[in-house]
Amino acid sequence: MTRSLIAGLGLLTLAAIPHFAMAQDGTDDFIKKGAYIARAADCMACHTNPGGKDYGGGYVISSPLGDIIASNISPSKTYGIGNWTEGQFAQAVREGVAPEGNLYPAMPYTSYSGISDADIHALYVYFMQGTAPVDEAPVKKTNLPFPFSQRWLMAGWNVLYASGKPMPAATTQEGGAKRGEYLVNVLAHCSTCHTPRNIAMSEDQSRFLGGADLGGWHAPNITSDPVSGIGGWSDEDIKSYLRDGSAHGKSQAAGGMAEAVEHSLRHLTDSDLTSIVEYLRTVKPVRDPNQKAPGFSFSTPKLADLAKLDAPIDRSPDAMTLGTSTNGAELYTGACASCHQLNGQGTHDQFYPSLTSNTIVGGPTSQNLVMAILKGVDRATNNGTVAMPAFEGQLNNEQVAAVANYVLSRFGNDALHVSASDVELLKRGGPKPFIARYAHSMSVAGIAAAGLFVLIIIFLLARRKVATR
Ligand code: HEC
Ligand code: HEC
Ligand code: HEC
Repeated sequence: MTRSLIAGLGLLTLAAIPHFAMAQDGTDDFIKKGAYIARAADCMACHTNPGGKDYGGGYVISSPLGDIIASNISPSKTYGIGNWTEGQFAQAVREGVAPEGNLYPAMPYTSYSGISDADIHALYVYFMQGTAPVDEAPVKKTNLPFPFSQRWLMAGWNVLYASGKPMPAATTQEGGAKRGEYLVNVLAHCSTCHTPRNIAMSEDQSRFLGGADLGGWHAPNITSDPVSGIGGWSDEDIKSYLRDGSAHGKSQAAGGMAEAVEHSLRHLTDSDLTSIVEYLRTVKPVRDPNQKAPGFSFSTPKLADLAKLDAPIDRSPDAMTLGTSTNGAELYTGACASCHQLNGQGTHDQFYPSLTSNTIVGGPTSQNLVMAILKGVDRATNNGTVAMPAFEGQLNNEQVAAVANYVLSRFGNDALHVSASDVELLKRGGPKPFIARYAHSMSVAGIAAAGLFVLIIIFLLARRKVATR
């Protein structure tokens, strides 16, 4: 009797083991899947402060309207989202509505609105069970000026501009351009940086991925146009840019793009990178009518200048200190040539890249060239770190302009000219969009408009009542 009981219990336990193992496996699979989606969606980039704990928040996003601080989204029950249900999580991520109120669209919910239900579930399991709680609040708090301090205003903005629907899970499976569309438009939210915004700060869909300014940098046109976009890049050019942050003889990634590569894109599977390329090939071309040739087409340094450069410049180590010279050629020789070479063609292996055949130098704007000189490049890659020193503080505005003009005239688009005040403006984050400059006075007009709107509704309702009588 006892024996058979034990045997029976043993059998029961045996029967239970595979079940238990399966449940464990299921959770592990969701955590793994959720971790990959979090990578592709780059939740880390904003929700982790550099040097801080994973997902502890505190990262400052400078918007034209003021600083917005990313929240703690670790499973901490006091400071994070540990008490949230999956429904609350889904609503915050896809609709920008958290239990405490509306979120600002600095959290890219307008893109994430397309995340499939299955992927939201995996993300939720990952954040709740696959990440560690961070039991402290971010040091800074978001504090936007009136009228943007009124979070409820976002509800109205959402009605007008945030209308995305979750993509059905079937279309988000591995392989093909449809998967690429899901990655580009939803998870990797490329358009939040690369699509220009209209007057209400929402993405202008008629120029989708047509290039936009952000904080001094310019996220270039990445449509399929062969002149203004990346239609002239090979599949491998695009893949190596996204994976390594560098496409030899085309472009390198600094600024926000370096962050996207470092935290997100370099971790994607080869199949997903191929899907992104397949989808980008289908994006409607946007052409800048003033641009006649692709940015990477300036392939040879202008020789007339070479002779000029060779003659008067003293290349002794003493002369290499930057001093106060505002002679572009001298500054280039002292500050840049040791890596990019005198002829601007970089090193043989392109570890130090060519400035000729470079969209940053030959493209329609000089912003990224100036920003790269000011801020440098610092990017972790799958094979080590890539770094160029930042010259802000070492070179003054006149010097930055002089060396930029030298690089443009010799290695790229010599129609462009940079002034010291251009450099100062970019240091301050570039020109402010209309809404940030005029928001205060517009908000007064807005209140007047809202009042008028209510009057019109009352008037129409009254008329309907009259008509139905
Ligand atoms: C481009 C930056 C950015 C990215 C990428 C980003 N977030 Fe956010 N997120 C923010 C900011 C900023 C806030 C705070 C917004 C506010 O205060 O209105 C926020 C808020 C949130 C909140 C609300 C937290 C609370 O306590 O109210 C959740 C949940 C969240 N994010 C989840 C995610 C997830 C999951 C991902 C990846 C799928 C992600 N975020 C990616 C910037 C980002
Ligand atoms: C956080 C903002 C941001 C996001 C997100 C982002 N980019 Fe970029 N991207 C930039 C900036 C800024 C540059 C310019 C970088 C530079 O020149 O150093 C850039 C450059 C590029 C270039 C090089 C274009 C050229 O002409 O040199 C390509 C290609 C590109 N991005 C593709 C993408 C794709 C595809 C995605 C989504 C998978 C994406 N980017 C997401 C900001 C962003
Ligand atoms: C110590 C070496 C070094 C020096 C000095 C240096 N660079 Fe660079 N530069 C680099 C590296 C490394 C990269 C990035 C390569 C990559 O991303 O693969 C880079 C990238 C660039 C880019 C492309 C940036 C982008 O956003 O795409 C430009 C433009 C550039 N450098 C210009 C200059 C100029 C102008 C100077 C002088 C003021 C200079 N560099 C000095 C090493 C250097």
